[in-house]
Amino acid sequence: MPTDHDGSEYTFDNGTPDAVPQLRALESFLDPITARRLSPPVLTPGGTCWEVGAGGGSIARGMARAIGPTGRVLATDIDTVHLTAADNLDVRRHDVRTEPLPGDAFDLIHARLVLLHLPERRRVLAALAGGLAPGGWLVVEEFDCTAPLRVLTAPSDDAAKLFAAVTDAMLDVLQGNGADLAWAQDVHAELVGAGLVEVDTITHSQSWPGGSAGASLYETNSRQLEPQLLDAGLSPGQLDGFRRLLRDPAFSVMSYQFVSTRGRRPVAQPHE
Ligand SMILES: C[S@@+](CC[C@H](N)C(=O)[O-])C[C@H]1O[C@@H](n2cnc3c(N)ncnc32)[C@H](O)[C@@H]1O
Repeated sequence: MPTDHDGSEYTFDNGTPDAVPQLRALESFLDPITARRLSPPVLTPGGTCWEVGAGGGSIARGMARAIGPTGRVLATDIDTVHLTAADNLDVRRHDVRTEPLPGDAFDLIHARLVLLHLPERRRVLAALAGGLAPGGWLVVEEFDCTAPLRVLTAPSDDAAKLFAAVTDAMLDVLQGNGADLAWAQDVHAELVGAGLVEVDTITHSQSWPGGSAGASLYETNSRQLEPQLLDAGLSPGQLDGFRRLLRDPAFSVMSYQFVSTRGRRPVAQPHE
């Protein structure tokens, strides 16, 4: 079991060519859901926001548009290669595992698909809650990867088995690097435990046909993890077959459950 800071590394690398389609695929199907979760009263004009592990930056840019010129967004990541600063959008390299919080009065802190990867996720979540202004919102969004992916249609039984074998091996790699595949289920209670109120959770899952942005995520992940997947005993031919399947319109699979949880710091009472 990982210790509180065991030196494990984030599994993917934003600097590789496959990171670009990976981050775009995430944004294309998750941004509409996240946008609904961040809509007013969570995001309000003039607010101060922090996008943690901003990745490709689409959510940080959306926040900057929503808060307008009197607000401020800070986008941080351990690798800021895909992030560009703008008038009301600051970009900073920041490791949320090890560095002090970049502020303590945020009206909104959002972290999507970040804490799942970090062995220190509980400590980090408590620290994020402590970075909120009174009334400020913390929104944490993760994939719940505990249930087997349900293949809906496949050209053959062997194809469905190959899909399961490769996706299981990818999850093993993530776990080996300190990811907690069930963490999404704990976030609601962690926010309550951190003293936040109005905590609510929604989940979303959808079918991903071969050739869709969702299905392409498995392909780009398999390219990023190729050395580890070969080490785990998969053959180059199996990986090629897996990638062909993900482009085959005869294949479709349910996505992981995307779990979005949010809560807010209580507004200070007049007698406090
Ligand atoms: C799966 S990507 C998600 C990107 C973006 N949040 C999204 O949902 O589109 C995870 C992001 O977290 C960043 N990350 C990983 N470990 C981090 C850390 N310790 N501190 C800050 N960012 C981190 C990665 O560099 C990557 O950009």
